[in-house]
Amino acid sequence: MTNGTPPFGRTVRIKGTGSYVPERILTNRELESIVDTTDEWIYSRTGMRERHIAADHEATSDLAAIAAQRAIENSGLTPADMDMILVCTSSPDMFFPNTACLVQKKIGAHRAFCFDMEAACSGFLYGLEVGRQFVQSSSAENVLVIGAEKISPFVNWKDRTTCVLFGDGAGAAVLQAGNGRGIMETIMGSDGLLADLLIMPGGGSRYPPTPETLKSGIHFIQMQGREVFKHAVSNMTKAALDILKHTGVSIADVKYIIPHQANARIIHAIGQRLGGRPDQVYMNVERYGNTSAASVILALDEVARGGQLEKGDLLLFVVFGAGFTWGAMLMEWDNS
Ligand code: UT7
Repeated sequence: MTNGTPPFGRTVRIKGTGSYVPERILTNRELESIVDTTDEWIYSRTGMRERHIAADHEATSDLAAIAAQRAIENSGLTPADMDMILVCTSSPDMFFPNTACLVQKKIGAHRAFCFDMEAACSGFLYGLEVGRQFVQSSSAENVLVIGAEKISPFVNWKDRTTCVLFGDGAGAAVLQAGNGRGIMETIMGSDGLLADLLIMPGGGSRYPPTPETLKSGIHFIQMQGREVFKHAVSNMTKAALDILKHTGVSIADVKYIIPHQANARIIHAIGQRLGGRPDQVYMNVERYGNTSAASVILALDEVARGGQLEKGDLLLFVVFGAGFTWGAMLMEWDNS
Protein backbone atom coordinates (compact mmCIF):
# COMPACT_ATOMS: atom_id res chain seq x y z
CA MET A 1 0.00 0.00 0.00
CA THR A 2 1.26 3.45 -0.84
CA ASN A 3 -0.02 6.82 0.34
CA GLY A 4 1.27 10.03 -1.10
CA THR A 5 0.15 13.44 0.10
CA PRO A 6 -3.38 13.64 -1.29
CA PRO A 7 -4.76 16.51 -3.34
CA PHE A 8 -7.09 17.40 -0.44
CA GLY A 9 -6.89 17.32 3.35
CA ARG A 10 -4.23 18.66 5.67
CA THR A 11 -0.55 17.85 5.97
CA VAL A 12 0.42 16.18 9.23
CA ARG A 13 3.60 16.56 11.30
CA ILE A 14 5.03 15.38 14.61
CA LYS A 15 4.67 18.20 17.13
CA GLY A 16 6.43 16.52 20.07
CA THR A 17 8.13 13.29 21.13
CA GLY A 18 8.92 11.49 24.39
CA SER A 19 10.33 8.19 25.52
CA TYR A 20 11.04 6.07 28.58
CA VAL A 21 13.13 3.00 29.26
CA PRO A 22 13.05 1.07 32.55
CA GLU A 23 15.92 1.59 34.99
CA ARG A 24 17.31 -1.94 35.05
CA ILE A 25 20.05 -2.59 32.47
CA LEU A 26 20.87 -6.16 31.43
CA THR A 27 24.36 -6.40 29.93
CA ASN A 28 25.82 -9.02 27.62
CA ARG A 29 28.14 -10.00 30.47
CA GLU A 30 25.16 -10.82 32.68
CA LEU A 31 23.61 -12.86 29.86
CA GLU A 32 26.78 -14.98 29.88
CA SER A 33 25.65 -16.31 33.28
CA ILE A 34 22.08 -17.00 32.07
CA VAL A 35 22.67 -18.87 28.76
CA ASP A 36 25.60 -20.31 26.82
CA THR A 37 26.70 -17.10 25.09
CA THR A 38 29.43 -14.46 25.10
CA ASP A 39 29.60 -10.70 24.92
CA GLU A 40 31.79 -11.15 21.85
CA TRP A 41 29.17 -13.30 20.02
CA ILE A 42 26.29 -10.97 20.83
CA TYR A 43 28.15 -7.78 19.91
CA SER A 44 29.67 -9.12 16.70
CA ARG A 45 26.40 -10.69 15.46
CA THR A 46 23.95 -8.00 16.60
CA GLY A 47 25.77 -4.81 17.67
CA MET A 48 24.04 -5.02 21.07
CA ARG A 49 25.83 -4.42 24.38
CA GLU A 50 22.89 -3.95 26.74
CA ARG A 51 19.11 -3.65 26.95
CA HIS A 52 16.63 -2.37 29.55
CA ILE A 53 14.28 -4.76 31.37
CA ALA A 54 11.09 -3.62 33.12
CA ALA A 55 10.58 -4.39 36.80
CA ASP A 56 7.96 -6.94 37.88
CA HIS A 57 5.57 -4.17 38.93
CA GLU A 58 5.90 -2.29 35.59
CA ALA A 59 3.61 -3.24 32.69
CA THR A 60 3.55 -1.90 29.13
CA SER A 61 1.00 0.82 30.01
CA ASP A 62 3.31 2.12 32.77
CA LEU A 63 6.19 2.57 30.31
CA ALA A 64 3.80 4.00 27.72
CA ALA A 65 2.25 6.53 30.12
CA ILE A 66 5.62 8.06 31.03
CA ALA A 67 6.64 8.33 27.36
CA ALA A 68 3.21 9.85 26.58
CA GLN A 69 3.47 12.50 29.31
CA ARG A 70 6.91 13.49 28.01
CA ALA A 71 5.66 13.74 24.41
CA ILE A 72 2.64 15.84 25.40
CA GLU A 73 4.82 18.17 27.48
CA ASN A 74 7.29 18.42 24.60
CA SER A 75 4.40 19.49 22.32
CA GLY A 76 3.37 22.28 24.67
CA LEU A 77 -0.05 20.65 25.11
CA THR A 78 -1.91 18.96 27.96
CA PRO A 79 -3.39 15.44 28.20
CA ALA A 80 -6.87 17.01 27.92
CA ASP A 81 -5.94 18.25 24.43
CA MET A 82 -5.58 14.69 23.09
CA ASP A 83 -8.43 13.56 20.80
CA MET A 84 -7.13 10.05 20.20
CA ILE A 85 -4.62 7.64 21.77
CA LEU A 86 -3.24 4.76 19.75
CA VAL A 87 -0.93 2.25 21.44
CA CYS A 88 1.10 0.03 19.12
CA THR A 89 2.27 -3.05 21.01
CA SER A 90 2.68 -6.82 20.88
CA SER A 91 2.80 -7.00 24.68
CA PRO A 92 -0.40 -5.36 25.95
CA ASP A 93 -1.03 -5.36 29.72
CA MET A 94 -3.93 -7.76 29.07
CA PHE A 95 -6.31 -8.75 26.25
CA PHE A 96 -8.83 -6.14 27.37
CA PRO A 97 -9.29 -3.36 28.13
CA ASN A 98 -6.85 -2.10 25.53
CA THR A 99 -3.56 -0.59 26.69
CA ALA A 100 -4.49 2.81 25.24
CA CYS A 101 -7.44 3.05 27.66
CA LEU A 102 -5.09 2.20 30.54
CA VAL A 103 -2.71 4.97 29.40
CA GLN A 104 -5.67 7.36 29.13
CA LYS A 105 -6.56 6.67 32.77
CA LYS A 106 -2.96 7.14 33.96
CA ILE A 107 -2.36 10.46 32.18
CA GLY A 108 -5.89 11.91 32.47
CA ALA A 109 -6.55 12.31 28.73
CA HIS A 110 -10.30 12.14 29.38
CA ARG A 111 -11.42 13.51 25.97
CA ALA A 112 -9.59 10.92 23.88
CA PHE A 113 -10.92 7.80 22.18
CA CYS A 114 -8.46 4.96 22.58
CA PHE A 115 -7.46 1.76 20.85
CA ASP A 116 -4.48 -0.55 20.29
CA MET A 117 -2.83 -1.84 17.11
CA GLU A 118 -0.57 -4.81 16.60
CA ALA A 119 1.93 -4.98 13.76
CA ALA A 120 4.87 -6.33 15.83
CA CYS A 121 8.12 -4.40 15.25
CA SER A 122 6.47 -2.40 12.43
CA GLY A 123 3.77 -1.23 14.85
CA PHE A 124 4.83 2.36 15.44
CA LEU A 125 5.14 3.24 11.77
CA TYR A 126 1.76 1.63 11.04
CA GLY A 127 0.37 3.62 13.97
CA LEU A 128 1.78 6.91 12.68
CA GLU A 129 0.11 6.29 9.33
CA VAL A 130 -3.25 5.50 11.00
CA GLY A 131 -2.92 8.61 13.17
CA ARG A 132 -2.04 10.69 10.13
CA GLN A 133 -5.26 9.65 8.40
CA PHE A 134 -7.35 10.91 11.35
CA VAL A 135 -5.60 14.30 11.44
CA GLN A 136 -5.49 14.72 7.68
CA SER A 137 -9.24 14.12 7.38
CA SER A 138 -9.91 16.55 10.28
CA SER A 139 -11.42 13.72 12.33
CA ALA A 140 -8.94 14.59 15.10
CA GLU A 141 -6.67 17.55 15.94
CA ASN A 142 -4.14 16.02 18.35
CA VAL A 143 -3.33 12.32 18.08
CA LEU A 144 -1.02 10.55 20.51
CA VAL A 145 0.71 7.55 18.92
CA ILE A 146 2.69 5.32 21.28
CA GLY A 147 5.02 2.39 20.60
CA ALA A 148 5.51 0.45 23.84
CA GLU A 149 6.70 -3.01 24.79
CA LYS A 150 7.36 -5.04 27.89
CA ILE A 151 8.50 -7.92 25.74
CA SER A 152 10.78 -9.50 28.39
CA PRO A 153 8.11 -11.83 29.91
CA PHE A 154 7.54 -13.37 26.47
CA VAL A 155 11.20 -14.15 25.91
CA ASN A 156 12.39 -17.68 26.67
CA TRP A 157 15.34 -16.99 28.95
CA LYS A 158 16.65 -20.51 28.23
CA ASP A 159 16.83 -19.92 24.45
CA ARG A 160 20.11 -18.18 23.59
CA THR A 161 19.04 -17.59 19.99
CA THR A 162 16.32 -15.12 21.04
CA CYS A 163 16.78 -14.03 24.67
CA VAL A 164 19.87 -11.91 23.96
CA LEU A 165 18.01 -9.78 21.40
CA PHE A 166 15.07 -8.05 23.06
CA GLY A 167 14.59 -5.14 25.46
CA ASP A 168 11.73 -3.16 27.00
CA GLY A 169 10.88 0.50 26.36
CA ALA A 170 8.36 3.03 25.09
CA GLY A 171 8.19 6.10 22.90
CA ALA A 172 5.39 8.48 21.93
CA ALA A 173 4.64 11.17 19.37
CA VAL A 174 1.92 13.82 19.16
CA LEU A 175 0.59 14.32 15.63
CA GLN A 176 -0.96 17.61 14.50
CA ALA A 177 -1.77 19.41 11.28
CA GLY A 178 1.11 21.57 9.99
CA ASN A 179 2.00 24.04 7.29
CA GLY A 180 4.92 22.17 5.71
CA ARG A 181 5.03 18.80 3.97
CA GLY A 182 5.00 16.74 7.21
CA ILE A 183 4.50 13.05 6.51
CA MET A 184 5.14 13.02 2.78
CA GLU A 185 4.65 9.38 1.86
CA THR A 186 4.13 6.00 3.52
CA ILE A 187 4.56 2.52 2.11
CA MET A 188 3.33 -0.53 4.00
CA GLY A 189 3.37 -4.22 3.09
CA SER A 190 2.67 -7.58 4.68
CA ASP A 191 3.12 -11.28 3.93
CA GLY A 192 1.10 -13.65 6.11
CA LEU A 193 2.50 -16.66 4.24
CA LEU A 194 5.68 -16.21 6.28
CA ALA A 195 3.92 -15.88 9.65
CA ASP A 196 5.60 -18.96 11.15
CA LEU A 197 9.13 -17.56 10.87
CA LEU A 198 8.62 -15.18 13.80
CA ILE A 199 5.78 -16.18 16.09
CA MET A 200 4.48 -16.47 19.62
CA PRO A 201 1.87 -19.18 19.08
CA GLY A 202 0.50 -19.70 22.60
CA GLY A 203 -1.79 -17.75 24.90
CA GLY A 204 -4.41 -16.63 22.33
CA SER A 205 -7.58 -18.27 21.02
CA ARG A 206 -5.63 -20.79 18.89
CA TYR A 207 -3.78 -22.24 21.89
CA PRO A 208 -5.31 -20.80 25.08
CA PRO A 209 -3.13 -21.18 28.16
CA THR A 210 -3.30 -24.65 29.72
CA PRO A 211 -0.73 -26.49 31.88
CA GLU A 212 0.30 -28.33 28.67
CA THR A 213 0.86 -25.18 26.56
CA LEU A 214 2.80 -23.57 29.40
CA LYS A 215 4.99 -26.66 29.72
CA SER A 216 5.72 -26.77 25.99
CA GLY A 217 6.82 -23.13 26.00
CA ILE A 218 4.66 -21.98 23.08
CA HIS A 219 3.85 -18.74 24.89
CA PHE A 220 7.43 -17.59 24.19
CA ILE A 221 8.85 -15.88 21.08
CA GLN A 222 10.09 -18.33 18.43
CA MET A 223 12.22 -17.07 15.55
CA GLN A 224 14.09 -18.54 12.59
CA GLY A 225 16.72 -15.82 12.77
CA ARG A 226 18.64 -16.38 9.55
CA GLU A 227 15.46 -16.42 7.42
CA VAL A 228 14.04 -13.37 9.17
CA PHE A 229 17.35 -11.54 8.63
CA LYS A 230 17.19 -12.04 4.84
CA HIS A 231 13.57 -10.90 4.54
CA ALA A 232 14.21 -7.93 6.83
CA VAL A 233 17.06 -6.63 4.65
CA SER A 234 15.31 -7.17 1.31
CA ASN A 235 11.87 -5.81 2.31
CA MET A 236 13.17 -2.76 4.17
CA THR A 237 15.56 -1.90 1.35
CA LYS A 238 12.83 -2.20 -1.28
CA ALA A 239 10.31 -0.13 0.73
CA ALA A 240 12.88 2.63 1.25
CA LEU A 241 13.97 2.66 -2.41
CA ASP A 242 10.33 2.73 -3.56
CA ILE A 243 9.52 5.69 -1.37
CA LEU A 244 12.54 7.65 -2.64
CA LYS A 245 11.53 6.86 -6.20
CA HIS A 246 7.87 7.90 -5.71
CA THR A 247 8.79 11.17 -4.06
CA GLY A 248 11.77 11.95 -6.29
CA VAL A 249 13.91 12.54 -3.19
CA SER A 250 17.59 11.56 -3.35
CA ILE A 251 19.15 9.68 -0.43
CA ALA A 252 21.75 12.47 -0.19
CA ASP A 253 18.92 14.88 0.76
CA VAL A 254 17.79 12.75 3.71
CA LYS A 255 19.16 13.92 7.08
CA TYR A 256 18.64 10.60 8.90
CA ILE A 257 17.59 7.12 7.91
CA ILE A 258 15.98 5.68 11.07
CA PRO A 259 15.60 1.91 10.67
CA HIS A 260 13.99 -0.56 13.08
CA GLN A 261 16.72 -1.46 15.54
CA ALA A 262 16.82 -5.27 15.27
CA ASN A 263 20.47 -5.87 14.41
CA ALA A 264 23.42 -3.61 13.51
CA ARG A 265 24.26 -5.87 10.57
CA ILE A 266 20.76 -5.42 9.13
CA ILE A 267 21.00 -1.65 9.64
CA HIS A 268 24.43 -1.44 7.95
CA ALA A 269 23.21 -3.57 5.03
CA ILE A 270 20.22 -1.28 4.46
CA GLY A 271 22.37 1.86 4.71
CA GLN A 272 24.78 0.48 2.12
CA ARG A 273 22.05 -0.67 -0.30
CA LEU A 274 20.40 2.74 -0.14
CA GLY A 275 23.74 4.40 -0.84
CA GLY A 276 23.58 6.34 2.43
CA ARG A 277 26.63 7.69 4.25
CA PRO A 278 27.33 6.01 7.62
CA ASP A 279 26.55 9.28 9.46
CA GLN A 280 23.05 9.33 7.92
CA VAL A 281 22.05 5.98 9.39
CA TYR A 282 20.86 6.29 12.98
CA MET A 283 21.62 3.41 15.31
CA ASN A 284 21.12 2.93 19.06
CA VAL A 285 20.71 -0.87 19.10
CA GLU A 286 23.90 -1.08 21.20
CA ARG A 287 22.10 0.40 24.24
CA TYR A 288 18.51 -0.86 23.90
CA GLY A 289 18.52 -4.09 21.89
CA ASN A 290 15.37 -4.78 19.87
CA THR A 291 12.45 -2.98 21.56
CA SER A 292 9.98 -4.00 18.82
CA ALA A 293 7.23 -1.37 18.37
CA ALA A 294 9.15 1.12 20.55
CA SER A 295 12.33 1.01 18.49
CA VAL A 296 11.98 3.76 15.87
CA ILE A 297 10.26 6.23 18.18
CA LEU A 298 12.92 5.70 20.87
CA ALA A 299 15.48 6.53 18.18
CA LEU A 300 13.55 9.57 16.88
CA ASP A 301 13.11 10.97 20.39
CA GLU A 302 16.86 10.67 20.97
CA VAL A 303 17.64 12.46 17.72
CA ALA A 304 15.08 15.21 18.34
CA ARG A 305 16.09 15.85 21.95
CA GLY A 306 19.76 15.69 21.03
CA GLY A 307 19.20 18.90 19.06
CA GLN A 308 20.17 17.17 15.83
CA LEU A 309 17.06 18.16 13.86
CA GLU A 310 16.08 21.41 12.20
CA LYS A 311 12.84 22.40 10.53
CA GLY A 312 12.84 21.09 6.97
CA ASP A 313 15.13 18.10 7.62
CA LEU A 314 14.01 14.93 5.84
CA LEU A 315 13.70 11.69 7.82
CA LEU A 316 13.34 8.23 6.32
CA PHE A 317 11.89 5.56 8.64
CA VAL A 318 12.02 1.92 7.66
CA VAL A 319 10.65 -1.02 9.65
CA PHE A 320 10.16 -4.78 9.60
CA GLY A 321 8.50 -7.25 11.95
CA ALA A 322 6.53 -10.42 12.54
CA GLY A 323 3.64 -11.10 10.22
CA PHE A 324 5.69 -10.34 8.17
CA THR A 325 4.95 -6.65 8.19
CA TRP A 326 7.15 -3.88 6.86
CA GLY A 327 7.03 -0.27 5.82
CA ALA A 328 8.80 3.00 5.12
CA MET A 329 7.85 6.62 5.72
CA LEU A 330 9.37 9.86 4.48
CA MET A 331 8.80 12.92 6.66
CA GLU A 332 9.76 16.57 6.67
CA TRP A 333 10.54 17.56 10.25
CA ASP A 334 8.69 20.57 11.69
CA ASN A 335 7.86 20.69 15.39
CA SER A 336 7.74 24.50 15.53
O1 UT7 B 1 12.49 -7.42 15.06
C1 UT7 B 1 11.92 -8.28 14.13
C2 UT7 B 1 12.88 -8.73 13.15
N1 UT7 B 1 13.96 -9.50 13.74
C3 UT7 B 1 15.10 -9.55 13.12
O2 UT7 B 1 15.24 -8.89 12.12
C4 UT7 B 1 16.17 -10.49 13.61
C5 UT7 B 1 16.83 -11.14 12.39
N2 UT7 B 1 17.87 -12.13 12.70
C6 UT7 B 1 19.04 -11.81 13.28
O3 UT7 B 1 19.27 -10.69 13.68
C7 UT7 B 1 20.12 -12.87 13.32
O4 UT7 B 1 19.73 -13.96 12.51
C8 UT7 B 1 20.42 -13.39 14.77
C9 UT7 B 1 21.12 -12.32 15.57
C10 UT7 B 1 19.13 -13.80 15.44
C11 UT7 B 1 21.34 -14.60 14.69
O5 UT7 B 1 22.55 -14.26 14.00
P1 UT7 B 1 23.09 -15.19 12.82
O6 UT7 B 1 24.37 -14.62 12.38
O7 UT7 B 1 21.97 -15.31 11.81
O8 UT7 B 1 23.35 -16.54 13.57
P2 UT7 B 1 22.71 -17.99 13.28
O9 UT7 B 1 21.30 -18.04 13.73
O10 UT7 B 1 23.05 -18.38 11.87
O11 UT7 B 1 23.59 -18.88 14.27
C12 UT7 B 1 25.00 -19.05 14.09
C13 UT7 B 1 25.54 -19.90 15.24
C14 UT7 B 1 24.70 -21.14 15.51
O12 UT7 B 1 25.59 -22.19 15.85
P3 UT7 B 1 25.96 -23.33 14.77
O13 UT7 B 1 24.65 -23.96 14.39
O14 UT7 B 1 26.61 -22.61 13.62
O15 UT7 B 1 26.87 -24.22 15.53
C15 UT7 B 1 23.89 -20.79 16.72
O16 UT7 B 1 23.54 -21.90 17.52
O17 UT7 B 1 25.50 -19.14 16.45
C16 UT7 B 1 24.84 -19.89 17.48
N3 UT7 B 1 24.16 -18.97 18.38
C17 UT7 B 1 24.75 -18.42 19.44
N4 UT7 B 1 25.99 -18.55 19.95
C18 UT7 B 1 26.28 -17.84 21.05
C19 UT7 B 1 22.89 -18.48 18.27
N5 UT7 B 1 22.65 -17.64 19.28
C20 UT7 B 1 23.79 -17.59 20.02
C21 UT7 B 1 24.15 -16.86 21.17
N6 UT7 B 1 25.40 -17.02 21.66
N7 UT7 B 1 23.30 -16.03 21.81
